[in-house]
Amino acid sequence: MSFTIIDQARARLNRSELAVPGSNPKFLEKAAAGTADVVFLDLEDAVAPNDKEQARKNVIAALNDLDWSGKAVSVRINGLDTHYMYRDVVDVIEQAGAKLDMIMIPKVGTAADVYALDMMVTQIEAAMGFQKKIGFELIIETALGMANIHEIAAASPRNESLHFGVADYAASTKARTTNIGGPNADYGVLTDAVDGGSRDFHWGDMWHYAIARMVVAARANGLRPVDGPFGDIGDLDGYGAQGMRAAVLGCEGKWAIHPTQIDKANELFSPSEAEITKAKRIIEAMDQAQKEGKGAVTLDGRLIDIASIKQAEVVVKKAEIIASK
Ligand code: GLV
Ligand code: MG
Repeated sequence: MSFTIIDQARARLNRSELAVPGSNPKFLEKAAAGTADVVFLDLEDAVAPNDKEQARKNVIAALNDLDWSGKAVSVRINGLDTHYMYRDVVDVIEQAGAKLDMIMIPKVGTAADVYALDMMVTQIEAAMGFQKKIGFELIIETALGMANIHEIAAASPRNESLHFGVADYAASTKARTTNIGGPNADYGVLTDAVDGGSRDFHWGDMWHYAIARMVVAARANGLRPVDGPFGDIGDLDGYGAQGMRAAVLGCEGKWAIHPTQIDKANELFSPSEAEITKAKRIIEAMDQAQKEGKGAVTLDGRLIDIASIKQAEVVVKKAEIIASK
């Protein structure tokens, strides 16, 4: 282990994160009653410019009047390059900050963006006498944000999670797709015709690098990595496959941009009974091995060692947090 110990962000279940447009009070009501682990009330890209002021009022009313127990609630503010942002922060935190767990900062480009927000939020919290510190969710969705991701992840003790905003990221990097997430028929490998055999085209995952890089930056700073939206809301299998790829790489959860995606995300990012049983068996086998003075043993024909205990503990701990919800 390094001599540098990584402080972990405040622990929260973040398997599903529902996006709800602040312009629609009915959707806000439904979100409060739903099963998402985290809900973010959107003031940014799901809200048209003419609706921004009303959406802000709706969000403040929803935070104060609805029952958000059993879930964490966040507000996605407008970008730092807009004139809506300062009022989003001031009005929402002054008028409903006691009800707010986090704010979500879109299109973060540099550590200084996070620093600026930290300064504003700190002042408002102090002026209002709030004891609870509001956390930050940061969307990595520009080339600049991805280039500066490690500094961004380390920029504030309020930081809780990094999110991969695939739609804006595609636009920012000028990727050749108009889909929101998911695979791309043009991104693949054509195999060679070995010994005169046939050639096959294997689809690849064009988002692999971005998600893997976000996972590393998040984990190296004790934050939760969360996969962003999947636009084809009619394709729950496609959503599941994308979510599972993210889960396998280490993400804690995925956005739901429609309520039908919530339960799928909760299922994908919860360890299965078989995974929990296997993890417990690994811990037991390693307990026994250590009593016998061994560093490694075989279980079901596979080598396990001290690193396996840590992997297994991740699974068991996650299962305990879910069970206590
Ligand atoms: C989310 O905000 C995205 O751009 O995908
Ligand atoms: Mg975006």
